[in-house]
Amino acid sequence: MSGGNASAFEKELRSLGWWYQHFDFPNGVKTGTGAPPGYDARSRWSFIEAFVPDDLTGKSVLDLGGNAGFFSIQMKLRGAQRCVLVDPFEIAIKQAGFAARQFGVRLELVMEDAHTYCLTTEERFDFVLFLGLFYHLKYPGIVLDRLAEMTRERIYIHSHVIGHKREPFISRPDYKRKSDDPLLEHPGFPRLAFVEEQYNEDSTNWWIPNRTGMEAMVRSAGLRIVDRPHRQIIVADPEVYFGKQVYSKLVFPRYGKKGGAVLPGPQGYDPEEWIRISDAIAERPVEKTNFVVWTIWKLINGFRSLFLKVRSRFKSRRIR
Ligand SMILES: C[S@@+](CC[C@H](N)C(=O)[O-])C[C@H]1O[C@@H](n2cnc3c(N)ncnc32)[C@H](O)[C@@H]1O
Repeated sequence: MSGGNASAFEKELRSLGWWYQHFDFPNGVKTGTGAPPGYDARSRWSFIEAFVPDDLTGKSVLDLGGNAGFFSIQMKLRGAQRCVLVDPFEIAIKQAGFAARQFGVRLELVMEDAHTYCLTTEERFDFVLFLGLFYHLKYPGIVLDRLAEMTRERIYIHSHVIGHKREPFISRPDYKRKSDDPLLEHPGFPRLAFVEEQYNEDSTNWWIPNRTGMEAMVRSAGLRIVDRPHRQIIVADPEVYFGKQVYSKLVFPRYGKKGGAVLPGPQGYDPEEWIRISDAIAERPVEKTNFVVWTIWKLINGFRSLFLKVRSRFKSRRIR
C-alpha cells in the first residue's frame, strides 16, 4: 500500500464515491461501501485467468473500458510491462489511479471514448481486455474490428448476452433472399437487439447480442474462438489479419440518449449523480439468500478456476 495513514486512505477511498468494481486492496479494505458486492470483479477474472499466461513479462496490455482497473492490475501483477486503461468517465480514471497506487503498479490512464481511442491509435497490444463494454457501444462492430487488428496474441471479450441456451441455427454459405428469410428469423440466428431506450436503468447500453451473435461477430473480425468459459465470455486469438487503412482526419458523430452521457468526450464527475446511483443500488431489495448463495458461489468459483486452468493447459499442449 502507498504511504499515509489508514484514515487518509479511507478518506480518499470514500471521496471516490460509488465503485462499480468490488475487490480487495492489499490492506484488506474493499472498494465500494463494504456491503455485499453488486459485482465482484474476481468472479469475472476467475473465468479468464486460466487463459492468461502466468508470466506476462515484457507484454503490453490494453484494457478498454477498464473502469477502476481491477483487470489491468491483475495483468501488471503477472509482470506485464505496460498496461493502457481507457475509460471516458473521469471517476473511473481516478479510481483506477488510486487502485493502481495501492498495488504499487503503474497504469497508463487514458480518459477517452472506446470508439475514438480505437480509431485514432495505430498501437497494437499483446493482450486486449474488452470486458463489459461491447453492449455500451453505439458502434460495437467497428470497435471489435479495430481490436482484432490491435491484438497480437489474445483478446478477452465479455458481454451481456440474451438467452441462456445456445440455440442451434441453420448456417449456409449463402442465404437465398425470400426463400431463406425464415432461417434468419430463427431465435438462434446471430443477432443484436438495439435498445433505443434505457436498459438496466443505464442510458449507455445500446446493443445486446444473443449467444450466437457474439460469436459470429468475433469470428467475422478475423478472430478464432479459443474457448467460451462462460456464456458471456469469449477468449479469442487473431486468425485472419485484415490490416488497416489510415486516413488523415476523423469526424466522429456525438451520440447519447436523453438525459445520459453524450460521447465521445470526457465525462466529468458529478458527485450528486454518483450519490443518486449508489442510493438507487442500495435501495434494491436484497434477498435473504444472498449471503448463502454468495458463499457457495465463491466455493464453486475456486473449483471452476482450477478446472479451467487444467483444461486450458491440456488444450494448449494438444494444439502444439
Ligand atoms: C460494465 S463496466 C465494465 C468494467 C470492466 N471492464 C469490467 O469488466 O469490470 C463498463 C465500463 O465501460 C466504460 N464505458 C462506458 N461507455 C464507454 C465508452 N463509450 N468507451 C469506453 N468506455 C466506456 C464505463 O465507464 C465502465 O467503466
